[in-house]
Amino acid sequence: MSVIAIANHKGGVGKTTTTVNLAAGLGRQGHKVLVIDLDPQSNATFSLGLKKQDRTIYQVLAFQDDIRKMIQPVAGVDLVPASVHLAGFEKNNEVGKEFILQESLDPIRSEYDFILIDCPPSLGALTISALTASDFVIIALQPEFLALQGMTDFIKILRTVKTRMNSNLELLGIVVTQFDNRKVLHRDIMEHARNEYGDAVFDTLIRGNIALAECQSMGKHIFDYDENCNGAEDYSLLALEVSQRLQTELV
Ligand SMILES: Nc1ncnc2c1ncn2[C@@H]1O[C@H](COP(=O)(O)OP(=O)(O)OP(=O)(O)O)[C@@H](O)[C@H]1O
Ligand SMILES: [Mg+2]
Repeated sequence: MSVIAIANHKGGVGKTTTTVNLAAGLGRQGHKVLVIDLDPQSNATFSLGLKKQDRTIYQVLAFQDDIRKMIQPVAGVDLVPASVHLAGFEKNNEVGKEFILQESLDPIRSEYDFILIDCPPSLGALTISALTASDFVIIALQPEFLALQGMTDFIKILRTVKTRMNSNLELLGIVVTQFDNRKVLHRDIMEHARNEYGDAVFDTLIRGNIALAECQSMGKHIFDYDENCNGAEDYSLLALEVSQRLQTELV
């Protein structure tokens, strides 16, 4: 089994879209998947069809409540929802708080093939907690000017977390989102990314697809919204590529 953080400190790059639809794709391929929404914005929670929740990952981080009590089955995957209270976790100064999430996952790790953690757009304690709890990280990258430069900073943080907090942490891959092959800039950025990071860049490109934006606002993952659109095809291929990289057998 693998715990994977979907991260990038840059906002709006497709972290939540990737977490939700990759999770749903893995679920459809027969894997048992848990999504943890670790962003105070709670976008993954809403994207999977839940409204404001009382039992969330906040209780786990703030009061060390049992994470099992927060798990809800939704649309083919399990979800631990987020709440806006998570923002408070960034500010408190409890010693060692970045390890609480990792500890909370220990009893349930073996029950899932994949645990995907949707990170907020920051490098604060929530993202560090996710990286500390994870075996792998997937970086979502939007093909934009300066995005590659931002990623260099993020990769430095990964190295620091690996040295100081979690020696298991590995980069599983970089997924390029909202890709448009007709744009020269997008093709250029892809070429730079492949030159710089080689095979770390997933072969699967997530194309810009309005259905991916629409389904989020409807609280459905892409396979329930329109299983024949480009977005469904791309996330299905990404799910295969992720399980191949991990050589995860179906249970
Ligand atoms: N491949 C895509 N095609 C079209 N729209 C997309 C695609 N991926 C994401 N979007 C849209 O772009 C916006 C940002 O995506 P998303 O919420 O996944 O980014 P994020 O990195 O999680 O943002 P934040 O940093 O705020 O958490 C959303 O409106 C989403 O619906
Ligand atoms: Mg998000």
